Amino acid sequence: MELRSVLKPLDIKGTRLRNRIVFPAFQANYATRDGFVTERITRLYEKLAQGGNGMIIVGRIAVSDDGAPNTNPLRLNSDEHIPGLNELFSIIKKRGAAPAVQLMHAGRQTVSAMTGHPVVAASAIPCPVLKEMPIELDTEGIKRIQDDFTSAAGRAKKAGAELIELHGAFGYLIGGFLSPYSNKRDDEYGNDKSLFFTEIIEKVRRKTGDIPISCRISGDEFVDGGLKFEDMRQVSQKLVEAGADVISVSAGTYASMEHMAPTISMGIGLHVYLAKGIRDSVDVPVICSDNIRTIENANEIVSENKADLVAICRPQVADHFFVKKSIRGEPVVECLDCGSCLYFLKGETSVSCPQNPEI
Ligand SMILES: Cc1cc2nc3c(=O)[nH]c(=O)nc-3n(C[C@H](O)[C@H](O)[C@H](O)COP(=O)(O)O)c2cc1C
Repeated sequence: MELRSVLKPLDIKGTRLRNRIVFPAFQANYATRDGFVTERITRLYEKLAQGGNGMIIVGRIAVSDDGAPNTNPLRLNSDEHIPGLNELFSIIKKRGAAPAVQLMHAGRQTVSAMTGHPVVAASAIPCPVLKEMPIELDTEGIKRIQDDFTSAAGRAKKAGAELIELHGAFGYLIGGFLSPYSNKRDDEYGNDKSLFFTEIIEKVRRKTGDIPISCRISGDEFVDGGLKFEDMRQVSQKLVEAGADVISVSAGTYASMEHMAPTISMGIGLHVYLAKGIRDSVDVPVICSDNIRTIENANEIVSENKADLVAICRPQVADHFFVKKSIRGEPVVECLDCGSCLYFLKGETSVSCPQNPEI
């Protein structure tokens, strides 16, 4: 099969992607406790860049200590984090991929025993999985965290990131504000549930100028009382009006975790219809993800205009040279769909993969 569509370069506001395959945000818990880049992180991303990706989204990266989702995420809450990321991005770029970051605040989907800070959220409603009662953010708290996103974005740009993704998916802080399921506020941030997110986009834009901004969202939360596909088409339009240059579509929250990194039994490309529906509603490139297991499938998705970019995560954890080998028609080391990489569900400290001893 000719791979013409998936191999076609794409320019997003001056950021050139050599092809349409994206290694999406993948929190492996490999940073130091203070959020600095380690050799293990550099090795992973260098291989993935060598392996042929068009873009690599490094992260997720916590914008503040109270927003840390795990013990060892990358962080960008101080200028001291810039040099390590700068070196990492240079390596990724030298290997031909566009280096990007994903910035996030975990909101109620973390615990104070781990962050050392109170858990905060749009409303005082605990995450049904982690169960810690969060403090409802007041206006001052909202502005502080929006400024944390803005400062982190400025640092990411200084470090050489060529695209900044804001993590609005999966029910973390931004997603928590978006959803009627977790946002019961009666102020302006409750009346317009997109406001927290659109203000961040506008602030990041003012801080970083022309750098492309991607917004990752859950195209459907798959929870009762949560955001549905039709809602997300409208939310996406608002994000684009506020300045988003890319929409990245996944699905689920902690309460519907099976959608966040779905097993193969849930279906190949099961959420591509969400990306397609959102792509039909906005005028910017859309990234799809979830159980896209072959480059031929990715090519089909792009050629049929269901998405502009295709995120492939776990198959590239199993084989960092997945893209290059697939292009050449060589066999890849296949992801076994065993869930070993979902270390947090297994009580392990970081990602591992039985198919890839190097990770
Ligand atoms: C261990 C692990 C960590 C992940 N971390 C993140 C993350 O930090 N941010 C994010 O948006 N998605 C994260 N994801 C979701 C992936 O980006 C991707 O959407 C998901 O794995 C489905 O794609 P796949 O079927 O190609 O693996 C993670 C997935 C895994 C397996």
